[in-house]
Amino acid sequence: MTELDTRLSKLLQGRKEKNRYRSLKEYDTSSSSALVDFSSNDYLSLTSSTPLRESFLARLASTPSIFGSTGSRLLSGCTSSHSSLEKRFEEFFNSPSALLFNSGWDANVSFFATVPQPNDWVIYDELVHASVHSGLRSSRVPVERRIPFNHNDPESIEIVLRGITKEGSSNDKSTVFFAMESLYSMDGDFSPLPSLLDVIERYIPRERQCVVLDEAHSTGVYGDNGRGIGYALGEEGGFDIGDRRKRGKGRIDVRLMTFGKAVGCSGAVLLCSPTVRSFLINFARPLIFSTALPHSTIISLECVWDVLQSEEGDQRRQNLMSISTYIHTLLEQLLSRTPSDILHLPPDPIIPFATSPSSSLPTKPGSPILGLLTPSPHALSTFLLEKGFIVRPVVPPTVPPGGERVRICLRAGMTKEVIDGLVVALGDWVDIRLAAKNEVRAKL
Ligand SMILES: Cc1ncc(COP(=O)(O)O)c(C=O)c1O
Repeated sequence: MTELDTRLSKLLQGRKEKNRYRSLKEYDTSSSSALVDFSSNDYLSLTSSTPLRESFLARLASTPSIFGSTGSRLLSGCTSSHSSLEKRFEEFFNSPSALLFNSGWDANVSFFATVPQPNDWVIYDELVHASVHSGLRSSRVPVERRIPFNHNDPESIEIVLRGITKEGSSNDKSTVFFAMESLYSMDGDFSPLPSLLDVIERYIPRERQCVVLDEAHSTGVYGDNGRGIGYALGEEGGFDIGDRRKRGKGRIDVRLMTFGKAVGCSGAVLLCSPTVRSFLINFARPLIFSTALPHSTIISLECVWDVLQSEEGDQRRQNLMSISTYIHTLLEQLLSRTPSDILHLPPDPIIPFATSPSSSLPTKPGSPILGLLTPSPHALSTFLLEKGFIVRPVVPPTVPPGGERVRICLRAGMTKEVIDGLVVALGDWVDIRLAAKNEVRAKL
């Protein structure tokens, strides 16, 4: 073992002792496998869609360039297929401009590392994704000007804003950035966006705000044809270009849509002003110094968007919502007889938007993510795996201490029978835990 390996092994041992050791696990989730996957973010079940596979293969067969893009967007990697996909996204998401990234991680790191300037402020939800933190760490915004607010709490954001506006002078030209997500990936709860935006509006003049909304978990799932929650609220960027005008209040300036979850591919698009787009093209290192998305991914994204904009897309969204309602009903019954120190759900999420009455989706859509809180996430995950269900534990530092859980992700292609099976297995686990608890009590 080298000196380096010895030192690293010691550090890894520390992680093991704290029950925080991570390792890569491979599960067979193919259709012939007995395991049911409740951990993937494939919310619309698109990765197993036969018609999508066929349309993708047909398009590959008739397209001359299907392999790598051969360079960064600034060199050989800016092709007409990349540009025309960006145009499609501008129209679809009603955005003044769009910029593709190789991942949501790259997009967040690029934006937060470069766009906020040293005199600006960055106010962020305490549970915002790690990529925002990584970007901020390499930004020029001093630590004392990066301030968290309590998760999804309008009162907390108000306290932060009261504090920073007291300090500012009337000719303060700094921009106040806000970083939040529309649907949080660990609790599966929605941001109360309208309330947060109302508070922001009261304290910061519009021309000094830059609200950045990460829609990684809502892309493809919510809003007409999957345009996201910002769009469903009519809050997408305020602008007026040609025949694409802002529809509503337009208080969200930048939106991040990612392709690795419900979209079933990989990559991301940042929806922003043309000036922010040019700035990123000039300064964002993950964009400048990395090979652009391969042609095969661009082709797959075009095929997925054809589905999202079709009746099949609506059907998939509808199925996902039905499955979400169904599991909540079953879990309510189970949890009503379960002590919360064995298993519980966070309080019911507030749903800040309703789907349009013309849409086939329920007016109060559910979430595809459930965080079932338990002090023994590893034991529960192992138990469920033995019963044929892949449900992954989530432990600190991914969640705060005390927030240990198993995370259940739903998919449009799941049947009620599969959900029944999972809830029965959860019930068995609760019974075992209850019996153990009673045994201990009897001995006292
Ligand atoms: C909220 C959020 N933002 C950004 C990302 C990063 O996206 P990607 O997987 O495309 O890198 C993730 C991925 O887990 C996420 O959950």
